[in-house]
Amino acid sequence: AHPQLLAGKTITITAGPTREPLDPVRFISNHSSGKMGYALAQAALSLGAHVNLISGPVTITPPAGANVIQIQSAQQLLNESLLLAPLSDVFIGCAAVADYRASAVADQKMKKQGDELILTLVKNPDVIAAIANLTEGRPYTVGFAAETQDVANYAKGKLSNKNLDMICANDVSQAGLGFNSDHNALTLFWLTEQKELAIETKSALALSVMTEVAKRL
Ligand code: PMT
Repeated sequence: AHPQLLAGKTITITAGPTREPLDPVRFISNHSSGKMGYALAQAALSLGAHVNLISGPVTITPPAGANVIQIQSAQQLLNESLLLAPLSDVFIGCAAVADYRASAVADQKMKKQGDELILTLVKNPDVIAAIANLTEGRPYTVGFAAETQDVANYAKGKLSNKNLDMICANDVSQAGLGFNSDHNALTLFWLTEQKELAIETKSALALSVMTEVAKRL
């Protein structure tokens, strides 16, 4: 059994991809499997927290005991997050949120046309920034940064631009780590500190991340 470092705390975690529809049968998405976010939920539960898990469409099973809320799009993720974050001590954005969605969703299946098809996309709301900028009921806000280059600089930029308390950076260019694998490596950044978590299973990393969060509440 783990020490109950998060007893009495409510942690809301987002996980998995978002799906941005183009028409009734097509969408834009990404390779997030939900494994990292679900591992965080499991770790938080094992440290005694009450856990809300807001999840995009994935094929893995959520940890027993989590309050699971299913979403598809970034806008739905935002709506559910805005309901739960002010009731939470900690909000962790591990979901791989699509930065853009189609400017218009066709209500019938789009027909095949010429040799080229141009899609117009518009920016999605930034969910974690919206939570981090709450003026009432702002939780301790933790983001993730998925980068393929210059990881530390981009991660630190997101920490400050999005007004986060902490960010977990992963280099998703490394084979066998990051998206859709059972292992990962993370660098945790705070405003004045950082900590390397070497390659490990996502479960082990999640426990380290949640322990670092617990120390700061
Ligand atoms: O699900 P797995 O297969 O286990 O893979 C895990 C993971 C690689 C998806 C995970 O570790 C991870 O890095 N998640 C964040 C992915 C991501 O969207 O990173 P980003 O650098 O694009 O976004 C930065 C932060 O802003 C993230 O906390 C993200 O949730 C948030 N964001 C981004 C865009 C947006 N419109 N709203 C957001 O809240």
